[in-house]
Amino acid sequence: MEYQFDLLVVGSGIAGLTFALKAAASGTVAIVTKKDKLETSTNYAQGGIASVLGPDDSFQLHIEDTLNAGDGLCHQDVVDMVVHNGPDRVRELANLGVPFDHGSSQMAPFDLGREGGHTRNRIVHAHDMTGQAVEQVLVAAAEANPNIHIFENHLVLDLIIQHRSLKAGTVTLQHEDVCRGAYVLDSQHEEVHTFLAQAVLLCTGGAGKVYLYTSNPDVAAGDGLAIAYRAGARLANLEFVQFHPTCLYHPQAKNFLISEAVRGEGGRLIDRRGRAFMEHYHPLKDLAFRDVVARAIDTEMKKSGDDCVFLDISHRDAEFIQQRFPNIYQKCLSLGIDITRDPIPVVPAAHYLCGGILTDLQGRTSIENLYAIGECACTGLHGANRLASNSLLEAMVFAHEASLHCSSNMESWRRRSLREIPPCFPTPPKQSSGSGLQSEMVLITHNWDIIRRLMWNYVGIVRTDKRLALAQNHIAQISLEIREHMPNIPLNSDLVELQNLALVAELIIRCAIQRKESRGLHYNLDHPQKDDPNWQRDTVVVKHQTEEFFCASSK
Ligand code: SIN
Repeated sequence: MEYQFDLLVVGSGIAGLTFALKAAASGTVAIVTKKDKLETSTNYAQGGIASVLGPDDSFQLHIEDTLNAGDGLCHQDVVDMVVHNGPDRVRELANLGVPFDHGSSQMAPFDLGREGGHTRNRIVHAHDMTGQAVEQVLVAAAEANPNIHIFENHLVLDLIIQHRSLKAGTVTLQHEDVCRGAYVLDSQHEEVHTFLAQAVLLCTGGAGKVYLYTSNPDVAAGDGLAIAYRAGARLANLEFVQFHPTCLYHPQAKNFLISEAVRGEGGRLIDRRGRAFMEHYHPLKDLAFRDVVARAIDTEMKKSGDDCVFLDISHRDAEFIQQRFPNIYQKCLSLGIDITRDPIPVVPAAHYLCGGILTDLQGRTSIENLYAIGECACTGLHGANRLASNSLLEAMVFAHEASLHCSSNMESWRRRSLREIPPCFPTPPKQSSGSGLQSEMVLITHNWDIIRRLMWNYVGIVRTDKRLALAQNHIAQISLEIREHMPNIPLNSDLVELQNLALVAELIIRCAIQRKESRGLHYNLDHPQKDDPNWQRDTVVVKHQTEEFFCASSK
């Protein structure tokens, strides 16, 4: 089937929904999302949204904290824009009905939490379920908007890219790539559809599933990064994977985060013997930047041989704990841990990708009419390490800027007919038929497991040149196996995700190998120092002319 919309949004988290709601005033919007519309990383965000809303705070302080966390790689113009726009975007959400916790007076309308690296309380939150509250309000608003159509269980395979040559007489001056839509797999009905659009917005979130342990939901397989790379877009800074210091360590707890806000309210990290250790690592102790805290925990676990460390907030009033952290309290209690009395077993886990698809201040990528917003983008805000709770903020601000840009271009875009597009790359994926799927599913699950374990062990919190080189070899083997053996398996979402995951793992390793220094989240024992000014720059990757991907072409 072929669909035509003015705008195609891929992903239904805060970035995609905010954009869609704003852009729907100027055209029709399709949101495609690969599972249930609520199954997004946004939905699991606990902490909140950082913004300058307190009487003792200032834009300058939030800017400085963001720059300090970013360790020399933030883009100052982006940081300025995001921080200054924050309060307006937060108030928009509150007006839409997001139930943020109230402050004590009109001067302080929101209750503001504190997280690592912030010098002021500035985290707007809805208890410890901020993302869920935001997601529900935005989804309800999108569903009520007649210009927005949500397609669940639709996974984008590849972008439709038109190659345009600008000629003067017989001389070709320039080649331009323009995004015209996407091929999308309806995974319930196992059909591939063509979505044509004036512009495509990638809002696909992160790639935590590249790692064995992650706080991310299963959907975070790096799809947007992979399809943008295959289409020829520029990606950057993928070596900067943020490991959240405190995920719940329990055999029955999958991907459950213990919010940094717990440390913001006085929680302390201790070892098995009850000794606090953060004072040995940083003057800010438990509220140091995330890379520092995650590395400290990693070091403590390696020194002691223990499987986890502990986070203790039991010295705070029990009623306060239950009210401030109802979700964490209930989840832990269901596993036999009463956090008002017991320390919580925690380990670091992959949480957020600071790099992504390179964009400008309007969210535009290096391909015309292709935008990227949210975790899949590399805007320049986070640099080498994201400041806590700056991610929902970034998504809202860039969704706003991109919607203004798209709306102001919509009329001129509409003047060209989408149907008159010259030959595009890639041609529609052909669905191979056959009965191979059942017997060959093991190829998919086995390789998926290998990639995640490999990335955890060789490309994790602490890296070395040797481990990175070994990881690169292993991934090259797996990618070869995928290219050579898997095209015979009928197209299905697990296969597409595996291909994407392998590609994103390869790109993370490629960026990590390039950066011969330690900075922010990238720590390499063979290059333990920061190397300014040589490495005070982004690590950019772009597809080689000769690279091939089986999903991207009909064979
Ligand atoms: C948290 O609640 O600790 C997560 C906040 C974030 O990642 O920004």
